[in-house]
Amino acid sequence: MSFSLPNLPYAHDALQPYMSKETLEYHHDKHHLAYVNNGNNLLKGTEWEGKSLEEIVKGSFGKNAGLFNNAGQHYNHLHFWHWMKPSGGGKLPGKLEAAIVSSLGSVDKMKEDFIQAGVTQFGSGWAWLAVKDGKIIVSKTQNGESPLVHGAMPILGCDVWEHSYYIDYRNRRPDYLKAFVDHLVNWAYVEQMFEAATKK
Ligand SMILES: [Fe+2]
Repeated sequence: MSFSLPNLPYAHDALQPYMSKETLEYHHDKHHLAYVNNGNNLLKGTEWEGKSLEEIVKGSFGKNAGLFNNAGQHYNHLHFWHWMKPSGGGKLPGKLEAAIVSSLGSVDKMKEDFIQAGVTQFGSGWAWLAVKDGKIIVSKTQNGESPLVHGAMPILGCDVWEHSYYIDYRNRRPDYLKAFVDHLVNWAYVEQMFEAATKK
């Protein structure tokens, strides 16, 4: 398979005022496109040509840094667009909420830990909710890594590369993370990934 850039599942201006049209024009149309194009060039002639995206990400980790960085970021961004929606945030769906309470104590604690993970990720990277050994965990990774290469299945990720927030929030990464959790997250999509991860 080769990588391709999907359309955003909403208009570029649909996440305002929490994420601007300009941010999505750069982030989706230019940054994500670059990962797709670079990934396709680097995939050619490797042992991973013809494999699924998850197999490419897991297989190239620690073996082919250039391919991994671009394939990893392609995987992360494919989901990132769906982890947000207009008028997001709000109440969590029941099954997901119950699992979060059971694993992490409460929804408020999960939000606090998730924001803290993003704030304390030094440099570029991602904050995550993931499923590991049947439990929901909070984690953070650098650059294009994700829980996929750390023995877990991602169910929610927030991009904390500066390209994701600097136009709208400048250096205020904590404000961006809080707006993401409270106003952007598509919790129904998170629950869908949770259910897929726990069926495996
Ligand atoms: Fe990004």
